[in-house]
Amino acid sequence: LKILFAVSECVPFAKTGGLADVAGALPTALAAQGHDVRVVMPRYRSAMKHLVDGSGAPLPGVRRHEAPLGVPLGGHEVWTAVWEARVDASGKVMRRVDRAARAPRVYLLEHGVFFDRDGVYGDSLGEFGDNLQRFTLLSRGALSLCKALSFVPDVVHVHDWQTALVPVYLNTLERDTELGQAASVLTIHNMGYQGWFEEHLFPLTGLGWEVFREGGLAAHHQVNLLQGGLHHATLISTVSPRYAQEIRTPQGGEGLDWVLQGRGGDVVGILNGIDDAVWNPATDEHLAARYSAEDLSGKQACKAALQREMGLPERADVPLLGVVSRLANQKGIDVLAGALGQILSMDVQVVVLGSGEGWAEELFRRLSASGDRFRAHIGMNEGLAHRIEAGADLFLMPSRYEPCGLNQLYSQRYGTLPVVRAVGGLDDTVDANLTGFKFGDLSVEALAQTVAWAVHAYRTQPERFREMQLRAMRKPLGWAHASRQYEALYRLAVARRQGRGL
Ligand code: ADP
Ligand code: GLC
Repeated sequence: LKILFAVSECVPFAKTGGLADVAGALPTALAAQGHDVRVVMPRYRSAMKHLVDGSGAPLPGVRRHEAPLGVPLGGHEVWTAVWEARVDASGKVMRRVDRAARAPRVYLLEHGVFFDRDGVYGDSLGEFGDNLQRFTLLSRGALSLCKALSFVPDVVHVHDWQTALVPVYLNTLERDTELGQAASVLTIHNMGYQGWFEEHLFPLTGLGWEVFREGGLAAHHQVNLLQGGLHHATLISTVSPRYAQEIRTPQGGEGLDWVLQGRGGDVVGILNGIDDAVWNPATDEHLAARYSAEDLSGKQACKAALQREMGLPERADVPLLGVVSRLANQKGIDVLAGALGQILSMDVQVVVLGSGEGWAEELFRRLSASGDRFRAHIGMNEGLAHRIEAGADLFLMPSRYEPCGLNQLYSQRYGTLPVVRAVGGLDDTVDANLTGFKFGDLSVEALAQTVAWAVHAYRTQPERFREMQLRAMRKPLGWAHASRQYEALYRLAVARRQGRGL
């Protein structure tokens, strides 16, 4: 199949969360299966270090196309430069490009005003005010790029609100072109973010008002990009079966459950996998020591190293609890904050890595400065995320909702038992009392009690705890299965489209 992947973030070039991990790993898995996969994303400032050397010249293997790409935006045309790189199975930019390599090609659209800035969706002042222009440019640019490359995809795979306009364009502006034959798949990674904009900005999209009114984009006198995409995509997926059910209900649908219900059987849940080349304790370069289910001794060394790194007493016997998370309402950070008093009274250590809500950053900073049981690092830190996964004994995820969640997968792979709320992908991927610990209520009490139970198991039943670790580490969690499921979904979408369905 010829597959175009249009996405707003992708490792190694830009990452705010799990979407970037998925956008890095799934195209690689699909390319390994023999598909021709092209990824298109913005060239944010953060991408430059992967593309150019100190003098600003493209690194070996990286190409900046001679001709700029013209993209229609709001009644005129804007010009973007196109960077091209290939990413190998370890998630790194290939320095020597073998044309026959089964690796996706990544195209990064450069635009001085819209993309060349720090931050992906916003900065410390909040969301960027021109996000409709920015992601319209990405969505239309993806289609302009296909034309410039004479690449006619069988299927276009788009992700969340940022590229939800692509299926709309395929059914409207591109309807009678060759590109308009392409099927589309829209994956919902998070219903909580929908791309709301003021109605008067709609003409920026280049679509007529009849598309706004009748094409599913209008909601409460505003533009809702995700809603438009859900109306127009040939097929829809989300990142776990449980979340696929939850978003059809008023509790989980964030106001769009009716749209999904209207799509009947067109919505499926496919669990995310782990990129084995990046998240593997046997090969992880970020760790002080490497280990596997066959020999866990390196994990002790990782724990001691983490305690040193975070300035905690180096004690092998104390249960070490890790958190790596966006500090957002979605993640139940308020519940975690509420339970910390009880948790810290249990003679445990807690290490938090995250950024987000100001009040949470401040609280965690303050707690870090006193006592010898709690330390937080505020900010993004890739290496530390790996070292927490490896060095901790337990990993906490008290999410309010969780479409899939990757950290509980990583922690299982690293033998760090997850303590999770049984929602969405957390419920689908953690086996209660076999590979982790689960609770149902979103409450301080439920979290604190489940932590107490897990800590008790750690202290009093070391053999059973060890068995759980080994079971978690040996669980197959790679992308092989999921990428086959996506392939089947694409083929279904193509067949549907050929019958000239959506
Ligand atoms: P979400 O996408 O909702 O944030 P996921 O669990 O799917 O949640 O993915 C989060 C990803 O972001 C993981 O790869 C995790 O390690 C990473 N991450 C989150 N916060 C940080 C941070 N402060 N520093 C480094 N990595 C982080
Ligand atoms: C979103 C979700 C998260 C999921 C990730 C990748 O950010 O919040 O649960 O794992 O996307 O699909």
